[in-house]
Amino acid sequence: MSAPDLKRAAAERAIPLVEDGMRLGIGTGSTAAAFVALLGERVRAGLTVTGVPTSEATRIACEREGIPLATLEEMPELDLTIDGADEVDGNLRLIKGGGAALLREKIVAVASRRMVVIADASKRVETLGAFPLPVEVNLFGIGATTRAVEAAVAQTGCAGEIVRRHDASGAPVLTDGGHAILDLRLGRIPDPEALSARLWAVPGVVEHGLFLGIADAAILAATDGDTAVISVLGRL
Ligand code: A5P
Repeated sequence: MSAPDLKRAAAERAIPLVEDGMRLGIGTGSTAAAFVALLGERVRAGLTVTGVPTSEATRIACEREGIPLATLEEMPELDLTIDGADEVDGNLRLIKGGGAALLREKIVAVASRRMVVIADASKRVETLGAFPLPVEVNLFGIGATTRAVEAAVAQTGCAGEIVRRHDASGAPVLTDGGHAILDLRLGRIPDPEALSARLWAVPGVVEHGLFLGIADAAILAATDGDTAVISVLGRL
């Protein structure tokens, strides 16, 4: 099975978790996009939900599918968030932000009673950090902030290159909130909690892509010949 097939299989397993009347956080990325397409089918068949999208891209996709939307100002508490991830470890700690939506994704996930991750099983890792850790930073003072992030990384015993993210055309990436992304190529993050605390202490860091103690479960789709095998971390 291809990666898109596995993403769709994980998204399909999440659909029965969505109950009529739910207030739903809706994630960003290709796996979340598969979920949005399936949710749109359910909404057109009569399911009543109200979604809060985690990015402008997801907002546009939801509107195209006819999924009713609200903001966190209108609806500050959510029942469930379904979102993808770049890495998941055995303790349901995540790296997110490969799609540059980590700030809104974290705000929405924390506003939700439950967060369920959907991913293909290649995202399951023993130790976080092979995927570069995204850190969203304010544009003001970005040079000084980058140096302070380097120091924070060194204080936790990690090492690696820190690179400002650019898009395929070579332009610096700006998030939906108008911030820059630094990608921390650390290879391994042995103590994610310590790194999280150090990064949060840096003025100019808006948010980082370590999601610790936020996800309740992860639906992982692996391939077995022509079929997808679903495994679940945590409790659905
Ligand atoms: C978006 O900012 C990310 O957190 C995504 O959730 C993550 O990159 C997973 O994306 P895919 O589902 O496309 O792999």
